[in-house]
Amino acid sequence: MDDTTTAQPLAGAALAPRPPARLSVIIPCYNEAPNVPEMVRRLDATLAGIAWEAVFVDDDSPDGTAAVAKGIAAADPRVRCIRRVGRRGLASACIEGVLSSAAPHVAVIDGDLQHDETLLPAMLALLESGEAELVIGSRHVEGGSAAAGFTTWRARLSEAGTALAARVLPMPVSDPMSGFFALKREVFEEVVPRLNGTGFKILLDVILSAGRPLRVRELAYGFRARQAGESKLDATVMVEFLGLLVDKAIGGILPLRFLSFAAVGLVGVVAHMAVLALAHGAMGLGFGPSMALATLVAMTVNFVVNNRLTYRDRRLRGLAMLRGLALFYLVCGVGALANNGVAALLLEGGGLGWGLAGVAGAVMTVVWNYVMSATLVWRAR
Ligand code: GDD
Ligand code: MN
Repeated sequence: MDDTTTAQPLAGAALAPRPPARLSVIIPCYNEAPNVPEMVRRLDATLAGIAWEAVFVDDDSPDGTAAVAKGIAAADPRVRCIRRVGRRGLASACIEGVLSSAAPHVAVIDGDLQHDETLLPAMLALLESGEAELVIGSRHVEGGSAAAGFTTWRARLSEAGTALAARVLPMPVSDPMSGFFALKREVFEEVVPRLNGTGFKILLDVILSAGRPLRVRELAYGFRARQAGESKLDATVMVEFLGLLVDKAIGGILPLRFLSFAAVGLVGVVAHMAVLALAHGAMGLGFGPSMALATLVAMTVNFVVNNRLTYRDRRLRGLAMLRGLALFYLVCGVGALANNGVAALLLEGGGLGWGLAGVAGAVMTVVWNYVMSATLVWRAR
């Protein structure tokens, strides 16, 4: 077995043209092609005299971000690029970037030049001196600002999110929503198994997953206006933010996906009742056919919403989506049969009242549908 803690440097390491990096800079990117070369130029200028490396993590952006980054990487050994195919997500991109690197200290910075990279040397100094294990670029300490980079409604939203997050933080942090921070690798490796990994708020995720107050320092910076491209923050990202807080608040007992799946299921019930009322109640269609129609509509609604929300990161499109829908009908059909069967059994043999029997059947169906669709319909790639 290889023991990395006592590993001797390989003979060829002596030929290595550069010292090992002291700082790995992780840069999540989606459609940031025009910003990549400028990012590298700025890192090169601001980190002069420090051995650093940059890892661009791109989710197969249509604008060719990965090709630009790999073009630079081919000429500059300090630069690397991970191109993830069929995946999306800022937080998970950061996680993979950090895990792909080995420097004792790691920084995460947006690839759109909105964060102030000139803070990086000070961040590294605080980590290396042991003064802090986490350093945050903050817009909310003396000297920091968010005005330039945010529209009014984004600023309000950010304030609301920060206030909400403050309630669950284990230590005071003025800007837990920042996407710009640096930390000791040990800390990251310690928390990574517990990270939620969805959405935008990787820093908040790290803080909430640490399980102890971290020694933190905040450095002020002004959030800059975007030069090229546009923000990827949308309504789903906000839902994911609330999901992260819920997940951390309930201690990760139930997977977030399950909660989302169950909530979408409730939406399906509403759709079901609406169609039933319309077809049977208002239009006088027979109860049987009305039920069949309502079930079909409810399953379709559930599929579409789950595909957009619950399984956003594995979203099916085109033919794969039709195939997924057919599988979903099948899974839910079996689930519904099992629901009736279990409820009937419990009612007769189990001595449960019809209410409890019905609830037990419904819970079983949700779990069945969730497990089966997670493994068959939206398979992890
Ligand atoms: N790989 C990858 N995958 N990168 C992504 C994705 C994704 O799905 N979504 C966004 N990014 C990249 C963007 O290309 C950009 O480099 C960075 O992540 C931030 O995304 P923006 O869409 O520009 O976010 P923002 O400017 O609205 O907000 C950012 O800054 C705030 C202030 O620090 C985020 O980092 C917020 O979390 C943060 O609060
Ligand atoms: Mn941005």
